[in-house]
Amino acid sequence: MADTTLMDKLVSLCKRRGFIFQSSEIYGGLGSVWDYGPLGVELKKNVKDRWWHAMVHARDDIEGLDAAILMHPKVWEASGHVAGFTDPLVDCRHCKNRFRADDPRIKGTPGQPDAQCPVCGSKGTLTEPRLFNLMFKTFMGPVEEQAAVVYLRPETAQGIYVNYLNVLNSSRQKVPFGIAQIGKAFRNEITPGNFIFRTREFEQMEMQFFVKPGTDVEWFERWRGWRMEWCQGLGLTSAKLRFHQHGPDELAHYAKDAFDIQYEFPFGWQEIEGVHNRTDFDLGRHQQYSGKKLEYFDQAANERYVPYIVETSAGADRVTLTVMVDAYREEQVEGEVRVVLGFHPALAPIKAGVFPLVKKDGMPELATEVYHALKRRFPAFYDDSGAIGRRYRRMDEAGTPFCITIDGETIANRSITVRHRDSMKQDRVGLDRLEAYLGDHLAV
Ligand code: GAP
Repeated sequence: MADTTLMDKLVSLCKRRGFIFQSSEIYGGLGSVWDYGPLGVELKKNVKDRWWHAMVHARDDIEGLDAAILMHPKVWEASGHVAGFTDPLVDCRHCKNRFRADDPRIKGTPGQPDAQCPVCGSKGTLTEPRLFNLMFKTFMGPVEEQAAVVYLRPETAQGIYVNYLNVLNSSRQKVPFGIAQIGKAFRNEITPGNFIFRTREFEQMEMQFFVKPGTDVEWFERWRGWRMEWCQGLGLTSAKLRFHQHGPDELAHYAKDAFDIQYEFPFGWQEIEGVHNRTDFDLGRHQQYSGKKLEYFDQAANERYVPYIVETSAGADRVTLTVMVDAYREEQVEGEVRVVLGFHPALAPIKAGVFPLVKKDGMPELATEVYHALKRRFPAFYDDSGAIGRRYRRMDEAGTPFCITIDGETIANRSITVRHRDSMKQDRVGLDRLEAYLGDHLAV
């Protein structure tokens, strides 16, 4: 299967089965903004829940936070985003299109007569590169003036830094400890694309871990390992995951060291999560810009310091895309192509499909009963239309790990068949054991 074909097939499957739709589609869509449909919202929620569980619930040293998207504009001066969160862009004076200055499609040097516009082909019409800030601006209050400008946050991290003392003072944490947050971020990306890989509105799952200066390198290494383990635990193909260490020319202005966790997408190796040693840059800058002391007092050692921060930053949408790309497969079964999303059971939007074999002999009634009983515990789907093979295929495409069929034997001896999505093997299980059976197989 050609790699681009895989992405095309996935985009089409996502629309057909209700995972992901283009935003405002009936108006022609909005560039690189996507909506999650019934199956997509469950899948992404499962990714986020799994992250939250690993980062907050399963640990004693991390607290959760949900900070507002809008923040005081000075936050973005302190963070360096007003001055530095920019891309160099060039305009074509002829066709009015705008490109990143390093767009590989541009021939020649922008601003020079030899430069050729990649869209209209005109020569000498590309401007010199100019810096363009990627933050979305809006106005707070009724007056649209410079003094009222606020930004849609381009990362969730800053909401954690400005709340670091609030969380410290209201919880029982001591350094080293972390604050985790999941939330929307916005970037006016110039070259978005590859479906939900790079979008203008997306969700981040970020954790900032506050440590004593001097212990940062050791914590950075720990977090790097833990985050890779988490990615592997999603069931992603291990050979398609790797670390990429940032070279000096790639490091963000705040970072002393940074590793990306990359996945091998059909369009190449790309970052899905970053682990950064941000030093005391952020708290130091917020201390400077706000005039408020953001030091930590270590009572036992009787010393004060501004903690260093080790950040782990993943995109919820990007991880969701990774999970889908990795799960997609096509198989030949009895002369037909079977499309399967082989999700890890914990991530699957629907855990079980419930089918009466035929629409008679009490089977639909019993199947409905089973369906309602299961639905109290996890998302299940009832389907009585079409041949049983078709119903299995529909669930395979949705990534449902188990299909339960109520047949003649069920009526006779209260046993059902559980069909496993990946092996297509069927187990016969007593109805009274069904919930426990599924519980065991879904436990992760
Ligand atoms: N606080 C650090 C930070 O924001 P980043 O490398 O710019 O670092 C972290 O972003 C993660 O957020 C990325 O690894 C990616 O998963 C996700 N991300 C960033 N920009 C994105 C975009 N335009 N669309 C979707 N996800 C994005």
